[in-house]
Amino acid sequence: MYNRRKFIKISAAGASLAALSNSALAKTVSLKPDTNLPIVISTWDFGIYANKEAWKTLEKGGRALDAIEAGARVPEELDITNGTVGRTGTPDRDGHVTLDSCIMDEFGNCGSVAAMENIAHPISVARMVMERTPHVMLVGEGATQFAVEQGMKKEKLLTPKAEKAWKEWLKTAKYSPVMNVENGSNRPGGKYNHDTIGMLAIDAKGNISGGCTTSGMAFKMHGRVGDSPIIGAGLYVDNEVGGATSTGVGEEVIRNVGSFLVVELMRQGMSPEDACKEAVHRIIKKKPETAKQIQVGFLAINKKGEYGAYAIQSGFSFAVCDAKQQDLLIPGKSYYPAGK
Ligand code: GLY
Repeated sequence: MYNRRKFIKISAAGASLAALSNSALAKTVSLKPDTNLPIVISTWDFGIYANKEAWKTLEKGGRALDAIEAGARVPEELDITNGTVGRTGTPDRDGHVTLDSCIMDEFGNCGSVAAMENIAHPISVARMVMERTPHVMLVGEGATQFAVEQGMKKEKLLTPKAEKAWKEWLKTAKYSPVMNVENGSNRPGGKYNHDTIGMLAIDAKGNISGGCTTSGMAFKMHGRVGDSPIIGAGLYVDNEVGGATSTGVGEEVIRNVGSFLVVELMRQGMSPEDACKEAVHRIIKKKPETAKQIQVGFLAINKKGEYGAYAIQSGFSFAVCDAKQQDLLIPGKSYYPAGK
């Protein structure tokens, strides 16, 4: 478990909001002194806002799956700080915004959509695939068609900001996609970055669910699918053990079935952080030269509500909201230190 003294409060306003929420929480959820449940954790700084929404469900004793869907819809909606999820996603190299997402519940049910266009909330469509079809995954036009049949709004998703970025990129890019790394210009990957939101929650009953949603690598080839909609790669949940999710260059996560690996390592007794670290080390060991240029981060939680993360590059962070603390943003540990 992370030492709580190390967390960063995002702002004074955030701190007072946290105090308010904590007092509201005490009235609605019976706090067990030996646990921090319920809890929701999410990748990156924008995960704080997703967690806030998820918490509204968890604090009422609601189901982790509902919390995940509600939370993931926040960055999918219109997050101006983030160009790699949902409506504000950066397009592929041909100018199409194509979205990937998956969701998994405490029973091992899962649903997923990949390379889906014109629907702003892929996490909700992934849940519909899980609950309303005999399938796990729908892709491309089939996913859009299904979403419309289910009542989702079909709309143009390319924002003026994303279109401008794409046109700028076209001037010099020679069709080289931009790898997702992190916020910040001193790391490989460049200015178009940020990445996937991966979320994991445990509700007051102790049940675990997770979700993952992204527009994927900026300016990717049309039809490219990353790790985020792939169960076992971008997300995996086992209600007996815990859950894991990933962010960064999806190709390397898929090659190593990353999130499944993290959960299986926790099953063998590793802490969430150590399991994430081992998964990162496998990626580095297989492709050490590639690993210097890319980011991959894993985030995990075990059944007890202990959590941890590890990334290839510095700069990765994750957000935590639990029965004891809210609005935490924790720097993830990494293989390469800052500035390298
Ligand atoms: N992790 C997001 C992607 O590679 O598409």
